Amino acid sequence: MTADLSRRMVLAAPVLLSACADTSVSAAPADVKQGTNSKLLVAYFTRSGNTKVIAGTVQRALVADLFEIRPAKAYPEDYEQTVEQARQERDRGYEPPLAATVKDIGSYDTVFLAFPIWGETAPPIIRSFLKAHDLSGKTLRPLITHGGFGPGNSASVLKSHAPAARIEQPFIMEADQERRTLNTVTGWLSQTGL
Ligand SMILES: Cc1cc2nc3c(=O)[nH]c(=O)nc-3n(C[C@H](O)[C@H](O)[C@H](O)COP(=O)(O)O)c2cc1C
Repeated sequence: MTADLSRRMVLAAPVLLSACADTSVSAAPADVKQGTNSKLLVAYFTRSGNTKVIAGTVQRALVADLFEIRPAKAYPEDYEQTVEQARQERDRGYEPPLAATVKDIGSYDTVFLAFPIWGETAPPIIRSFLKAHDLSGKTLRPLITHGGFGPGNSASVLKSHAPAARIEQPFIMEADQERRTLNTVTGWLSQTGL
């Protein structure tokens, strides 16, 4: 491990501990952005925007309702800190509190659930979302982006957290990795000597 990386992990530690301890927040129901097709909901989680583009494309094409899944406590701006926090949460089976829940989930027939792969699985907040919303009898259509390593074990997470939903074949797409962009920009910066 490089000195720089270990220093960053030490700096990240208090952030991670406080994030993991924060289990008391209960999410209030929020309004979704309304389409005219009120039986369809597109719910999405995104960090760097790839998944939002896909969610928005589906939502506009089908004139569905739209809901952004957000944690009550935002993940760090720093990419490496987020990777580390996500890894810890995954390993502990931690389900972070949601900032808000969908007001009337019962009114939808089909829920498109759009998310990026984090640590070879669905992000922890997706487990929180599924835990907080009863999708029994509904069709669940996953829309998944990943950075080149595929959907991992996300299918089994969906199955275990939405056991009574009818889960359709997922749409899966490779999309840009923030890490690649960061590395490219950092390399360029160091060449400039700035
Ligand atoms: C915390 C974190 C963990 C990630 N883990 C993986 C992974 O295990 N496999 C993979 O292929 N991509 C991984 N990625 C890359 C993202 O899945 C990919 O870039 C995705 O399209 C990002 O979507 P977004 O722009 O909607 O946030 C990870 C990204 C982050 C931020």
